[in-house]
Amino acid sequence: MFQLPEFPKKLKMKSIAVLTSGGDAPGMNAAVRAVVRYGIAHGISVYGITRGYSGLLEGRIEPMQASSVANIIQRGGTILKTDRCPAFLKKSVRREAANILVRKGIDGLVVIGGDGSFTGAHLLEKETGFKTIGIPGTIDNDIAETEDTIGFDTAVNTAVEAIDRIRDTASSHGRIFLVEVMGRNSGFIALSTGIAGGAETIVIPEADHTVQEMHKTIARGIERGKSSSIIVVAEGQKAGLATRIAQGLGDLGHEGRVCTLGHIQRGGVPTAHDRVLGSALGAAAVAYLASGKSGGMIGIQNNQVTYVPFTKVIGKKKPFPKMAMKLAEVLAI
Ligand code: ADP
Ligand code: F6P
Repeated sequence: MFQLPEFPKKLKMKSIAVLTSGGDAPGMNAAVRAVVRYGIAHGISVYGITRGYSGLLEGRIEPMQASSVANIIQRGGTILKTDRCPAFLKKSVRREAANILVRKGIDGLVVIGGDGSFTGAHLLEKETGFKTIGIPGTIDNDIAETEDTIGFDTAVNTAVEAIDRIRDTASSHGRIFLVEVMGRNSGFIALSTGIAGGAETIVIPEADHTVQEMHKTIARGIERGKSSSIIVVAEGQKAGLATRIAQGLGDLGHEGRVCTLGHIQRGGVPTAHDRVLGSALGAAAVAYLASGKSGGMIGIQNNQVTYVPFTKVIGKKKPFPKMAMKLAEVLAI
């Protein structure tokens, strides 16, 4: 269980707002609920902003009570809705956002999202001085300086459940299945899903793969009496990678079926892990803001809640666990 930062005796802030931004992730509601209730419990007024930065610019800012976040911890998605807001790329728009928050009497902003959302928050504070803090909410788990992100555990569990189902028909028919998972241009979902799902091959953007190597792996499996094969493919930048690989394997005499999991990985009931993670990060974000600490992300390092300045997080590549890839290869023989 995580240690939480001490709550300051003297509050540096009396009023904060919270928003969710970018791709939604199961467990975001747990974080929203913790920000609201932990803030109120320590004498801080809390406001909810609907639809991310777009909603902020439209003034969709409403006061929240403890009851506002009742009965949501078990729900996927985000009650605050989310959005992608290209306008926020403009400095003048970020200045307007800060003015809106100040006019509302809000002292600090909690941004639950991924690397892009953190970039917006970092620039907002850097350019206007408005205090911001980030909570890593993305199923991709591709954010530097944190071992975990809200939604990752749930997305992996969803994908593994799908693979277990696919494996039934694959072994019944002696088929090869290529299962494409999300992760944008990172392979963390694919790696964990592949290991947990017992995949014969895991294709990730962080490594080079050839269809020839996959052909050899399949052939080796057939020699060992394997009648079917599961290949987990991280979607990568360009959609349809699993289909392109299936075509390549087809040219080598292997008929592969493609199953693209898509957005089911983004929904669903959050796991207990993501609910606890969201609750801990939400509470810690309030404690740090209240103590005057801002301009950074609340993450998990060595299983402890940590604060890391945005400058060390945004745009940084998260190191990929190469050893885990080796483990997956050995276990799949
Ligand atoms: P995620 O936060 O999951 O990475 P996006 O990359 O879509 O999702 O970013 C979400 C939002 O954050 C964008 O729609 C935009 O409003 C804001 N944002 C992203 N990148 C920047 C940037 N470089 N400057 C300012 N705002 C940004
Ligand atoms: O960043 C989370 C994520 O689910 C990625 O894994 C995926 O590629 C992307 O969002 C999909 O974005 P959208 O929901 O806007 O199609």
